[in-house]
Amino acid sequence: MWREPKPQYNRFIKLHWALLKRHISESISDARVKMTRNENSKSKRLKTTVKQEDISPTSYHSFSDAAEVILLRSHLLNWYDKEKRELPWRTLAMTEEDLNIRTYAVWVSEIMLQQTQVATVINYYNKWIKRWPTVQDLAAATLEEVNQMWAGLGYYSRGKRLHEGAQKVVSELKGQMPHTVENLMKQLPGVGRYTAAAIGSIALGQVTGAVDGNVIRVLCRLRAIGADSTSPAVTEALWNIVNLLVEPSRPGDFNQAMMELGARVCTPKAPLCSQCPIKSHCHSYQKFNHTQEQNTKKLVGKTRKRSPSVPDIEECVGSGACLLCPSEPWENELGVMNFPRKPVKKPPRVERTLTCLVIRRGGDGQDQYLLTQRPNKGLLAGLWQFPSLLEVESSDIEQKRALLCNEICRILGTGFPENHVHFVGEVVHIFSHIHQTYVVYSVHLNDQSCENLSENAQWLSRSALMEAAVSTGVKKILKLYDSVNSNKHPTTNETKKKKTNDLKNNVISRGKNSAAKNDSKQLSLMSFFKNTKK
Ligand code: ADE
Repeated sequence: MWREPKPQYNRFIKLHWALLKRHISESISDARVKMTRNENSKSKRLKTTVKQEDISPTSYHSFSDAAEVILLRSHLLNWYDKEKRELPWRTLAMTEEDLNIRTYAVWVSEIMLQQTQVATVINYYNKWIKRWPTVQDLAAATLEEVNQMWAGLGYYSRGKRLHEGAQKVVSELKGQMPHTVENLMKQLPGVGRYTAAAIGSIALGQVTGAVDGNVIRVLCRLRAIGADSTSPAVTEALWNIVNLLVEPSRPGDFNQAMMELGARVCTPKAPLCSQCPIKSHCHSYQKFNHTQEQNTKKLVGKTRKRSPSVPDIEECVGSGACLLCPSEPWENELGVMNFPRKPVKKPPRVERTLTCLVIRRGGDGQDQYLLTQRPNKGLLAGLWQFPSLLEVESSDIEQKRALLCNEICRILGTGFPENHVHFVGEVVHIFSHIHQTYVVYSVHLNDQSCENLSENAQWLSRSALMEAAVSTGVKKILKLYDSVNSNKHPTTNETKKKKTNDLKNNVISRGKNSAAKNDSKQLSLMSFFKNTKK
């Protein structure tokens, strides 16, 4: 079995301690120089009022005591050894002797885990590794097969990049996965600083920290870093801190322990501080407790007409001008959730898409659905969808339906009566940056001879559709269609089940028994109906 090398603790710590401390100071002062070049008013204030030597962010916002670092590592890793989840990629990283397979498998897991929860990834990862156990197997697959396997995971460009990367490894790197952090980042598409560090540490035992969203939260709380966590100064500071903290003999476990802590204990909302193995090192936890104590003592002091002094806790000496301190005051009710701070998010773009289930009876008597393939670039690249059209706001309901019918005729290569197209309902699907509403129609074609399909279109049976490379939006649309159809004669039990499902799936249907019947949005749909000729 593969083993990581045993470290020379003390020598490593002494050597790297001095280097890392210098690096942190330098990167923070670099960031400060960049800020002073920036023409905003805060930077102007900094330029005139702050001297370099006034601030020592290394001590408050990082770690200046080697003994504390050693203690923190052991608190964290002892907890991880007891509490960690057995995850398939973790087991493989510990047991697989072949370095190439280990690196490939951890690469797959890390790409899947970008933007997706562990619980969802497990199944996808297992199926993927079963089907393509080596990078060579993945390189030999088609993009269609990859998209099909990825269907439902979201952020589809990730699967495409994995596939491209595998083909590159086979055709340009003689089938050998890169085995340094630097080369992982340089040679694999879609592998950035975090992913390279995670693969390098977990699969290859490279001594590097890794900063993902969970780790940002843990570190910002740990060291009371309250400035915008996406700013260059904070990003650099976090990488420096985690590189200083990482356990050299178990870098992969250390990084996964930080992620695990962020996912299960140091959560965004309702963190479980009492269960945290490193709370004794946490500035925000100490600040919260200290402020609570102070408030209690003030109250007690009032009643006793005496205000005993509470010893101060450590604070940043550069507070007010420090690039890592929060610009807004601490709110004690938030506790550790005062950190991290993010810039205000841009609201998602609101989009409405007209879409139609075009259905015909296949030769075997089963319904078939018309699907078209999306372009190879951009949102949901290469996935299959029902014929769709972005809704033009200025057009009225009749015009919208006519535009959709034109689009369907173009795909079919033949016409059909427009009044056969019926409105089904609406489905909301939220992408990270788009609030998408699908306005769903359906049409049953009697003429089965529409064989003049445009390129990138195909008829699929229901079972083939469910297996195809389609997005979650398509599956939600189908669910809505089914629920509206089953609404025609539902039994009491079916009605109850449907209501629950509708609520789960954000569907607004036109059926009489729709769960959204009393919804204000539904009222507007009713008025839509009044205006819709059938
Ligand atoms: N998120 C990203 N990488 C992870 C890992 N290896 N284990 C758990 N969660 C993760």
